Amino acid sequence: MLTSAAAPALDRAGLRARYLNNRNRSAELFALADPSAYVDRPIPLRHPVIFYEGHLAAFSFNKLCREALGEASIDAHLERLFERGIDPSDAADAARHERESWPSRSAVAAFGARCDSAILRAIAMADLTDATASPLLERAQAAYCILEHEEMHHETLLYILHQLPLENKRTAGRAGAFYEREPIATGRVTVGAGTATLGARRDVLPFGWDNEFDETHVDVAAFEMDVNDVTNGDWLAFVRDGGPQPSFWIERDGGFALRGMFETMPLPLTWPVYVTNAQARAYAAWKNARLPTEAEYHRAAFGAPDGRERAFPWGDAPPDARFGNFDFARFEAEPVGINAAGKSAWGVYDLIGNGWEWTSTPFRPFAGFEPMASYPEYSADFFDEEHVIVKGASPVTNRNHVRRSMRNWYRAEYPYVYATFRTVNG
Ligand code: AVJ
Ligand code: FE
Repeated sequence: MLTSAAAPALDRAGLRARYLNNRNRSAELFALADPSAYVDRPIPLRHPVIFYEGHLAAFSFNKLCREALGEASIDAHLERLFERGIDPSDAADAARHERESWPSRSAVAAFGARCDSAILRAIAMADLTDATASPLLERAQAAYCILEHEEMHHETLLYILHQLPLENKRTAGRAGAFYEREPIATGRVTVGAGTATLGARRDVLPFGWDNEFDETHVDVAAFEMDVNDVTNGDWLAFVRDGGPQPSFWIERDGGFALRGMFETMPLPLTWPVYVTNAQARAYAAWKNARLPTEAEYHRAAFGAPDGRERAFPWGDAPPDARFGNFDFARFEAEPVGINAAGKSAWGVYDLIGNGWEWTSTPFRPFAGFEPMASYPEYSADFFDEEHVIVKGASPVTNRNHVRRSMRNWYRAEYPYVYATFRTVNG
């Protein structure tokens, strides 16, 4: 009989490579903004760009070196200043977080370099899995937490930089992203009744955020689902009938253009529309339809007519750019329904990639939820019925985050994220 499987040896070289890779990507992304814009707040509900540069280093140092391993502070003031981002409900709430000034960019860079050395030293030499020394070290939780945190912030940083005026971005030499293509399939499919497995068992994932546990089984009745995400072209008909204008659209010459990451382009009618959850609900109601629940998303993405469940919509092969528009292959969406390799067993396209998928499910814990030792507020602070689950991935979601149990969430009215939707009935 098997006793509990021995933990695999810690792959220090792998952790180091992933950390350095993340740091390089962070530096590249910060460099997309003109230095003069570092203290700007492209999104009034978020800190200025400079905060995020400090935050990535401080978070990793705070969690791994200080909290998990008990090391002394490098700079207590900066560690505290850059500890945590904000998600205020409105401008008045945001004003509480406003500061007259931020440390200079060179001070932040110097602090970051000291954090990097301490973290790389820890990755090379410290005991990262000694759960008896600290609960943050259970199954190397703190090490994985800081890696996924930085990867997540790449997306956060990009949707913030998306709102910077183009003249404050380094756009030179970029090929235009606009192109149109018709989808392979259109219309709807029936997703048969069955059980959806949400979340995961704690012992099967090397790392998961606290909101992914415990594994939860939900019985789902049959329903009809759009095979494609709602496009800008679909949304245009809604606007003409009085529907709201998406935040990424710009009025131009009596029509609309799209605010892209590095260019303003003609409205790509075949791309998924990026809207808020409230806007998506309004569209669905206009169509006499509704948004899928989180469990229905799981049935459509991971269920199959033969009753089995897959790891990914396309099967069990690891996430790869050929299955969908994620992992930074592009900074933009692409036309819906062109990625046949990534479709689900029911023939639903783009369930992972090309934009997060809004659900109708508020962000709530699964039964058995426990706040994680390395970041107890990570999820718990957002179980407030004001945040809604998105599933899947956007073009700038790291492939490391493409796993069935991954749950992301945003405020229902937050207009800046790469989130789209499709409708269901039944
Ligand atoms: C899980 C993407 C909603 O960006 O607010 C980063 C991730 N939490 N630092 C966010 C997060 C703390 C979080 N989301
Ligand atoms: Fe953060």
